[in-house]
Amino acid sequence: MNPKQLVGEAAAAYVKDNMIVGLGTGSTAYFAIMKIGEMVKSGMKIQGVPTSKATEKLALELNISLLPISDVKKIDITIDGADEFDGNKNLIKGGGAALLREKIIASVTDFYIIIADAAKKSDVLGSFALPVEVTPFAKEITLMQLTALGCIAQFREKDGGLVITDNQNLIVDCKFDKIPNPAEMNMKINQIPGVVENGLFTGMADLIISEDGKGGLIKLD
Ligand code: A5P
Repeated sequence: MNPKQLVGEAAAAYVKDNMIVGLGTGSTAYFAIMKIGEMVKSGMKIQGVPTSKATEKLALELNISLLPISDVKKIDITIDGADEFDGNKNLIKGGGAALLREKIIASVTDFYIIIADAAKKSDVLGSFALPVEVTPFAKEITLMQLTALGCIAQFREKDGGLVITDNQNLIVDCKFDKIPNPAEMNMKINQIPGVVENGLFTGMADLIISEDGKGGLIKLD
């Protein structure tokens, strides 16, 4: 079984009848959602809360009932991917540009599970360029202020244009050498007025399910 499917299905096993379930975004979360879709088909009743428009579409295709975000007060469990994680369960997320919705949904989640293959483990975060969601207004000022924090910052582009998020904002990818204090960097970045949110998730993950590269699971809790 491919590693993303292995960890995705292991996480889906935590989903139980009648739960409200945050549904992550990306190629690893995909496998968890597919498994949840199978469970729903077999009779399990859950309400999903998608973290992106792409995930919303997938969930609807699988007949997973969705709870409107305006009705969400608390989420029992959320399963999402990550771009990088360390031994203290700090994360870099946002490779799929969904970090804002992902962080909002994580913030009201009781049990937040991250699924990630072995290649995403780091001793110190910073291998992956940190995604930051910024307002289009004054984007050059925001880029300058991000650069002043010590990274090489650039707007994410796709197909010759700037990437626009589900929230009509832009993404700046900030390549730091290392991020030795993720909690402090999270606060510094979010103090920049044009920053909407950044992809550092600290103190949020309850469980990381990864694998050993040989078909075995590794759980970090
Ligand atoms: C989406 O914005 C991200 O936070 C994803 O959760 C992250 O990029 C992991 O995606 P993959 O599972 O596709 O690597």
